[in-house]
Amino acid sequence: MVSESQHDIPPTLSDFQSPNEHIPVLLNEVMSYLAPRNGGRYIDATFGGGGHARVLLEQSAPTGQVLAIDADPDAIARAATLALAHPGRLKPARGNFRDIEALARGAGFGSVDGILMDLGLSSFQLDQPERGFSFRFPAPLDMRFDSQQGPSAATLVNEYDETDLTNLIFEFGEETRSRVIARAIVGARREQPIETTDRLASIIERAVGGRHGRAIHPATRTFQALRIAVNDELGSLHAGLAGALELLATGGRLVVISFHSLEDRIVKTFMRDEATDCICPPSTPICVCDHHARVRVLTRKTVRPNVEEQRRNPRSRSAKLRAVERLP
Ligand SMILES: C[S@@+](CC[C@H](N)C(=O)[O-])C[C@H]1O[C@@H](n2cnc3c(N)ncnc32)[C@H](O)[C@@H]1O
Repeated sequence: MVSESQHDIPPTLSDFQSPNEHIPVLLNEVMSYLAPRNGGRYIDATFGGGGHARVLLEQSAPTGQVLAIDADPDAIARAATLALAHPGRLKPARGNFRDIEALARGAGFGSVDGILMDLGLSSFQLDQPERGFSFRFPAPLDMRFDSQQGPSAATLVNEYDETDLTNLIFEFGEETRSRVIARAIVGARREQPIETTDRLASIIERAVGGRHGRAIHPATRTFQALRIAVNDELGSLHAGLAGALELLATGGRLVVISFHSLEDRIVKTFMRDEATDCICPPSTPICVCDHHARVRVLTRKTVRPNVEEQRRNPRSRSAKLRAVERLP
């Protein structure tokens, strides 16, 4: 935990390493791109455990303000607790960042100096068995960030037909054995609906074999695919990026950390297109899109955690950071 009085001392990862605490990824890099300043206004669109938001508050003290968005009510409860320690400076807003523009305008954050999107899951979500994100624990197959919204993973697994399941696992899990896995799921659910994480993991393991020296468990990609589908993560990302750009003041910065290639591809394409004047297909003889660059890309290549961070926080290994700055 970083205290108010320490705001000129750069935080280190060990400041966050209490049990179950989510360790913020690429913390120093995020802060160097957002460059928080006293009086600045920032949006943390994925508050999670609040690791980044806490340092944003520290570095924009004493009057900087932060809007904390998260779809998960547990994350928003944590934000409400942190807000008590920073009166008038942290505003929690429960919602999906696909609606970032409406959420921000509703909270009086219509023009901001920086926005962070740190995609995916917090450690506390993974560590809560009842959320069903992990096959490390036997739990109901849920996987929703907000359990009030949309169908659960169990609904998809038990109701999608074999072709839709194959496509979902292939597309969102980048799983080459998607056909075999989908067939096994459909076979198993004929006997009894698949309601739990451990049953799904063992069906997959039986279908494609055990780990056999592979770096990841055979169910990892299928679980990723279900989580992405259940939360419409890629659709939310498209909408959230577009909304974020509408909120940035000139010179304001958008920083996005992604954890798999599907997300990174969306972020990369969005940032490249928004930094380009004409986005007509190359075959178009004259420009008909009337598109004008709205941002400058700050990261020519993705920024990755260094070896030390990867060692201390294995979850950071796949992180990729990209950042842009709003043009006038
Ligand atoms: C990786 S965690 C963020 C961790 C945070 N930066 C920290 O340092 O503690 C991602 C968070 O984003 C939330 N989230 C993911 N997709 C979201 C979406 N579309 N809208 C709102 N929140 C989302 C998740 O509920 C999760 O709490």
